[in-house]
Amino acid sequence: MSENNNAENITKLLGVIINPNNGKTLKEEGRIVEIKADQNELLFKYKRDGITPEQKRMIETSITSAVADFYPAEKITVLTVSENSADVFTGKTFSKVEDKKSTPAQAAPSAQIKTGHGPAGANKKRVAGAKKVIAVSSNKGGVGKSTVAVNLAFALKNLGKKVGILDADIYGPSMPMLLNKRDAKPGATPEKKILPIDAYGIPFISFGLFISEKDPVIWRGPMLGGVLNQFLFDVAWEGLDYLIIDLPPGTGDMQLSMVQATDIDGAIVVSTPQDIAVLDTRKGLNMFTQVKIPVLGMVENMSYFVPDDAPTKKYFIFGEGGVKRAAEELNVNLLAEIPLEIALREASDKGFPYMNEKKYEGRPVWNAYMNLAKNVDQCFNGTENSEEPKGFFKRLFS
Ligand SMILES: Nc1ncnc2c1ncn2[C@@H]1O[C@H](COP(=O)(O)OP(=O)(O)OP(=O)(O)O)[C@@H](O)[C@H]1O
Ligand SMILES: [Mg+2]
Repeated sequence: MSENNNAENITKLLGVIINPNNGKTLKEEGRIVEIKADQNELLFKYKRDGITPEQKRMIETSITSAVADFYPAEKITVLTVSENSADVFTGKTFSKVEDKKSTPAQAAPSAQIKTGHGPAGANKKRVAGAKKVIAVSSNKGGVGKSTVAVNLAFALKNLGKKVGILDADIYGPSMPMLLNKRDAKPGATPEKKILPIDAYGIPFISFGLFISEKDPVIWRGPMLGGVLNQFLFDVAWEGLDYLIIDLPPGTGDMQLSMVQATDIDGAIVVSTPQDIAVLDTRKGLNMFTQVKIPVLGMVENMSYFVPDDAPTKKYFIFGEGGVKRAAEELNVNLLAEIPLEIALREASDKGFPYMNEKKYEGRPVWNAYMNLAKNVDQCFNGTENSEEPKGFFKRLFS
């Protein structure tokens, strides 16, 4: 790539960085003062007036993520200018510098502006008893989100991890059915914590365990916020490597308010090849980036059909490579392509999770889920004590 091309490309990549304060791009707001990109180094300078320190850090993270393929963090300098002060972020080290236009003596007050949905940060609570919390989401219903959540949990268990499942789908809780525990009733510990139900060695909790399937959906709305909070913080989760959350489908305010309350370590977006609208997916990914949740990647479900009697054949019923193309366009990872298999649906309907049935070992769906689990686990490898997953995850800001 020529130097000019590189600079153009970088300018394009950085043109989609958003101001977390209002969701507009820095470019749209006329905040970008200078972008200087050569083969070795990148300088990005923008006007930071009205941007809180927390939001500034989010912008820095999104810049380093957006150009991660081209520059290591230490080769990136982010300079901010404002009416009264300036500071600089170079790679991982922050230092206050004197900008030519600034008067450092009168540091600009950092306005604590609230975004539409409130920025991520201080109010976020860790879930006691779970090292990593992963949210499984989808833009649309019926794409196999719950199937992915449950089988990812068992695939991680097959890797030797201790995993729990939190069914946050208040309108269509499916875990009691998928785990064959429709009639289970959670108990409580002496400390009044809710005891999760054990299903094949995986503790889980679901709104479906507390309501009758006949209860009108309208009652559920008002309970919503409280229920997720309770499931995160008042359940006796213990010793989990991973807590997998099955979110309700969609990416609206309800989902956003759910994810912003807790310190979720990574999000997975499930889609089917024909359901993939890049624009919708971009909105879905934005939901996570707004609240500073790393997107681990996308999962394509129902990628192709594998007949039972010809397990080496692949029929691309819904078209080939839809999610892969979208993931490339959106600069996120494709974590797995999971085939359609009748046995997977049948196992789900009966409440016998496919990935808990050793008889399926080696089949295309089995292998796809094991790969997914390995990819997810790899995102967090060696980062138990650090803030962010490393490895190959990327964030998307647009
Ligand atoms: N790869 C697959 N092969 C065969 N059947 C599948 C596959 N993935 C999901 N299914 C089936 O598709 C149906 C929908 O899946 P699921 O309930 O997991 O979707 P969902 O996205 O959670 O839906 P909802 O929006 O209702 O929560 C189920 O009957 C499930 O068994
Ligand atoms: Mg579901």
